[in-house]
Amino acid sequence: MADRIDKILSNQGIASRSEVRKLVKQKRVTVNGTLIRRPEEKADPEKDEIAVDGKTINYKKHLYIMMNKPAGVLSASRDNRAETVIDLLPPELRRDGLFPAGRLDKDTTGFIFLTDDGELAHSILSPKRHVYKLYEAKCDRELTEQDVLHFAKGITVGEQSFLPAKMKIIAPDTALVEICEGKFHQVRLMFRSAGTEVISLKRLRIGGVYLDKNLAEGGYREMTENEIKAIKSIKEELY
Ligand code: URA
Repeated sequence: MADRIDKILSNQGIASRSEVRKLVKQKRVTVNGTLIRRPEEKADPEKDEIAVDGKTINYKKHLYIMMNKPAGVLSASRDNRAETVIDLLPPELRRDGLFPAGRLDKDTTGFIFLTDDGELAHSILSPKRHVYKLYEAKCDRELTEQDVLHFAKGITVGEQSFLPAKMKIIAPDTALVEICEGKFHQVRLMFRSAGTEVISLKRLRIGGVYLDKNLAEGGYREMTENEIKAIKSIKEELY
């Protein structure tokens, strides 16, 4: 779809709107080899070749970013007081409409998926779609087979209930837990119902996509074609 050149270039993180205006004035922007004279001229970024200083831009309709969220950072787009996952990105990746598709508690670390593809984010977040997520939880006591059974049976705490979940003990006080819902504080509440507090929690996988082990906390990268395909092909799995 055709759009204004200044909007396309700023949205692609090439330059701010005012910088794009300067680039146009300086005769540095072309569309299909023809010089652009006004920033409001239009082009179709999916069909036209847009270039700055003779270099064709690598147009991306949407961004798909994997981040290893550090503790203490909010998984929100904007917050007046606290740092958010969006604040950790460089300006060229902070596109309009980019937001975290799914939430982690402030103290939880690990895989956060950021995108401006609203349709995809919406489908992943839909409660009807049981997207499996894998967490590593370190607890304040030794875990036992009783705990594994407790998780496997499904859990009801007061008014709230959680579907059966797989739990695997990987160290005396640490387990991998796979859940397919995204209820508030879910993993922490499930452990609390078993009489233990979670000391640290990290998300390792969303659907079939693992957090890149090379990403340090606070690190991010654009996802590969295969990872994007895997996220897009998450099927509706009704329990
Ligand atoms: N479960 C929790 O308790 N917290 C998270 O951040 C994610 C899942």
